[in-house]
Amino acid sequence: MRLERADDGAPIVFQATPTMSQFMQSDAYVRLLAGPVGGGKSVACCHELVRMAQMQTPNRRGERLTRFLIVRNTADQLRSTTLKTIKDWFPPAEGFGRWAATERTLYYQFGLSDKTIVKSEWMLRALDDEADIANALSLEVTAMWANECREMLAPVFAALLKRTNRYPSPKSGGGFATRAGAICDTNMPGMETYWETQMSAPPSNWSVHVQPPAVLPLADWIDRYGEDPPEELRATTTAGVTFVVDPNADNVSNLAPSYYTDAVKTDKQDDIDVYLRCRFGRTLSGLPVYDQTFHFDKHVAKEPLQVIRSENYPLCIGLDLGRTPAAVFGQMTPRGRVQILSELTSENMGIQTFLMTKLKPHLAEKYPGVPCYVAPDPAGWQKSQVNEKCPVDYLKLAGFRIVRPPTNKTKLRIEAVDTLLARSVDGEAGFVIDPSCRTLIKGFRGGYKWSVNKRGDLTNESEPTKNQFSHIHDACQYLSIVIDGDHSGAARRAARVIQVANARGWR
Ligand SMILES: Nc1ncnc2c1ncn2[C@@H]1O[C@H](COP(=O)(O)OP(=O)(O)O)[C@@H](O)[C@H]1O
Ligand SMILES: [Mg+2]
Repeated sequence: MRLERADDGAPIVFQATPTMSQFMQSDAYVRLLAGPVGGGKSVACCHELVRMAQMQTPNRRGERLTRFLIVRNTADQLRSTTLKTIKDWFPPAEGFGRWAATERTLYYQFGLSDKTIVKSEWMLRALDDEADIANALSLEVTAMWANECREMLAPVFAALLKRTNRYPSPKSGGGFATRAGAICDTNMPGMETYWETQMSAPPSNWSVHVQPPAVLPLADWIDRYGEDPPEELRATTTAGVTFVVDPNADNVSNLAPSYYTDAVKTDKQDDIDVYLRCRFGRTLSGLPVYDQTFHFDKHVAKEPLQVIRSENYPLCIGLDLGRTPAAVFGQMTPRGRVQILSELTSENMGIQTFLMTKLKPHLAEKYPGVPCYVAPDPAGWQKSQVNEKCPVDYLKLAGFRIVRPPTNKTKLRIEAVDTLLARSVDGEAGFVIDPSCRTLIKGFRGGYKWSVNKRGDLTNESEPTKNQFSHIHDACQYLSIVIDGDHSGAARRAARVIQVANARGWR
């Protein structure tokens, strides 16, 4: 990307990485760039503000007017980090801009080759300062930059966002803001925080862009590059785990060569996960069940997955029963990769309602003509106390082919998923999840976790905590335990053993 500057004619050249350019080009109202420390996020945001300033449609006088609110959690960080980064890249020099310290505002002004003038005010405000917050909440600005947004409280962010898209206005001699809204940059937030929720299930007018991890576990590095890493990229933690710097991660070439290796050698595993590997911070309440085997960038597809429509590759529906039925829809591909295509969750409904109002419509809409079978919770074979039918009877009545998972032991079910996660097919993950499976993915990222005892320790008796992620994960385990190995043959054999009703209408 090239930025024009008319004062001394020297162009400022900034090369956006693929993640940064998606962030910049997204037309979402709120855009969020998350990634490792040192990933160049803050610098990218400075450039994006300059770009937005130049993008503003000129008014009648040929001026491109913008006003940006730049917020950081503390005055100290604002001064020592945010302002420093801005001044580093866009020094408010004579003929280009000035820093008005008492107003904590940068005033930029420069001409473009089309003879228009860019006039942009950058107002820096700290959120630990009552007067600053009060002031910010009365501003009328074009857009805001929330620097290190994970430190910000949700209501403050929401209130500030409402101050955007208010400048310029017709009374300032032109139209409205050409590019309004917010840009946010951050290190990865903690699990189950407001920011994690926004990132995991973004509102429709938000876009979330996560940079690649700065370091990879040794085996993943070798997997990716097909060779042993050079010595200078490796580092081992105090616990003896080796990580390797990914030379293709964002901004690595602009950092000192030992920047990330020193961090690996110094930091605790939790910090390495958050600050270098772009994982959500762990909550104190429990260890993620798939902590060692699940890797977001390996197991979550970047693009939507395509269902294979063939008799030989039936759709497997893992189904958890109870009062919160949940289902995952997956398929073994011809190359032996398991792809999870979609998920369904529910709250407080019986299996019959779930079948009629959710599962059947979902199949008809998304998978017409695809043969399928269900792998239900084995508890579904138990008759209920109030009537003669067991939940599986309803599945049979609805015409489903059924495969009974051979075990309901938690450890074995989890092992089946772990095995799939660890598998490689043609050098790529043997288990991939469609990005639309938000609850499942959030669970994999840590929401599905082991329960701990009162002292916060894991014990041998630990079971996964029952929470909003456990049902979809139970469903995923039933799928994994039957889809694994010689799957389609086994499924057909099993389907023959268990008498099932006619599946016509679902094929
Ligand atoms: N495009 C670039 N060219 C040269 N140096 C860069 C570039 N982007 C970032 N840097 C430098 O890399 C370091 C980290 O960048 P920064 O934006 O602060 O990272 P983050 O906000 O992701 O932690 C800074 O010293 C910054 O000046
Ligand atoms: Mg930063």
